[in-house]
Amino acid sequence: MNFYRDFDKLCLALKGAGAFLVVEDGKGGANPMTIGWAQLGVTWGLPVMSVLVRPSRHTYSLLRGASCFTVCVPREGEMKKELAFCGSRSGRDTDKARECGLRLKNGSLPGSFIIEGSELVYECSLLHRAPLTPGALPPELVSRYYPEGDWHDIFTGEVKLFRGAK
Ligand SMILES: Cc1cc2nc3c(=O)[nH]c(=O)nc-3n(C[C@H](O)[C@H](O)[C@H](O)COP(=O)(O)O)c2cc1C
Repeated sequence: MNFYRDFDKLCLALKGAGAFLVVEDGKGGANPMTIGWAQLGVTWGLPVMSVLVRPSRHTYSLLRGASCFTVCVPREGEMKKELAFCGSRSGRDTDKARECGLRLKNGSLPGSFIIEGSELVYECSLLHRAPLTPGALPPELVSRYYPEGDWHDIFTGEVKLFRGAK
């Protein structure tokens, strides 16, 4: 499985309308959250995907109790309304998938969910969580991204399954 095929599509989506980070909600379903930041690469000799999530997100609490997460990337220009919805509403007070008509189905890992119709799907099993180190970031990035704190944690998962573009 070539996990790195379609890397350009992943990055273009992240730089544009975003991608979905999907995490099991503990109620038999899953919560999709829009992300713009992610890293695909190699660590510990493994193919890994890292996502950066602020503690204020509902997704953060879900990730703290999860064993896996999925990154689902729509085809260019598709699902823009759904990405905007899942990037502005919280799964704390709404069933986002149902409200915006996203069809979730079980992935291949226990507890993983994928969004039907995605062009790329990365199913990841969680390996590591680490907070960012405030003093280690240039001050201009601190004032731009963290004026109120809420520093992202980095959640890294091993990419176990990848489905690329046809
Ligand atoms: C394009 C876009 C990219 C985003 N990227 C991130 C991200 O990488 N990390 C993050 O913590 N929040 C990000 N957000 C904000 C969350 O998607 C947003 O706060 C969401 O409502 C949180 O949902 P939840 O509370 O259900 O987890 C992004 C929002 C948008 C619109």
